[in-house]
Amino acid sequence: MLTMSGFTAFNPTYKFITVLMPTDLSNQIILITGAGRGLGQHAAHHLAKCGAIVGAADIDPKTCQETVADIRREGGKAYAYCGDMSDRDTYMEIAARFAGVSGRIDCIINNAMLLRYEPIADIRTDVLDKMLAIGVNAVIWGAQALLRHYDPERGGNIINMASPVVHRGYPNTAVYSAVKGAVVALTKVMATELGPRRIRVNAVSPASVPTPGAIGMVSKEEYARRAATIPLRRIGREEDNSNAIAFLLSDEASFINGEVLNVDGGAAIS
Ligand SMILES: NC(=O)c1ccc[n+]([C@@H]2O[C@H](COP(=O)([O-])OP(=O)(O)OC[C@H]3O[C@@H](n4cnc5c(N)ncnc54)[C@H](O)[C@@H]3O)[C@@H](O)[C@H]2O)c1
Repeated sequence: MLTMSGFTAFNPTYKFITVLMPTDLSNQIILITGAGRGLGQHAAHHLAKCGAIVGAADIDPKTCQETVADIRREGGKAYAYCGDMSDRDTYMEIAARFAGVSGRIDCIINNAMLLRYEPIADIRTDVLDKMLAIGVNAVIWGAQALLRHYDPERGGNIINMASPVVHRGYPNTAVYSAVKGAVVALTKVMATELGPRRIRVNAVSPASVPTPGAIGMVSKEEYARRAATIPLRRIGREEDNSNAIAFLLSDEASFINGEVLNVDGGAAIS
């Protein structure tokens, strides 16, 4: 489903009809990390359908290239970049290559994450370091990349991925929750620091979307429990998240900055 805006037109049979249009992002050049699968892959497709030129980056070359091939088959414009986006040099090199396509980058979506839930007693250095590196460090590399390649006259956007775990004490999510707490803090700091440079920084906080990464950690029974307790009585869908991202990037959101947009059916506040 596309994010819709629209207009009302006269039709001789039905008198007035409302014509729905996808959000227009046709002037946007957007780099999204973790675009090989899950929420990032869906967002890459959606933003391309909205007219954006999409740079799809992922540590997995196969899924990343497949995403781009599918987008191009659908008539969209996309470029694949394989690399570990937690590494600053890699992030900067990929951003420079993508900026070379159209001369600038308008938006960075820091979506990539290593999703792991485990008890505190089991946390080991290697997984902890990887989660912090892609979840926290890469958000900073993303901001640095945008600063290097955006057009100060046009302004820019950063979208970070938060989570309702920030508001709740979910057992066994210590590192993941710490990462997402840091993402919320970074979103607010960046919004105040970069706002005067015409860069808006917002976060989307989706809930309970059964992506390839999430279904490894959340059982069918747990999804059923969540569907029964989330105020809107269902779990999340990939399009819920993509629609929210497209809205935040649109002109309609031009005065929204430093916001963490819950896209969770009310999970965070219930
Ligand atoms: N699925 C949910 O319910 C949910 C809820 C809240 C927040 N989120 C957030 O949404 C984002 C996407 O989650 P998802 O559920 O689609 O996860 P996913 O595991 O399905 O997809 C994550 C993608 O990131 C890529 N990736 C991981 N490490 C990388 C690295 N170092 N460099 C480049 N790419 C890397 C993976 O290869 C994968 O393609 C994450 O930030 C996650 O925390 C998801």
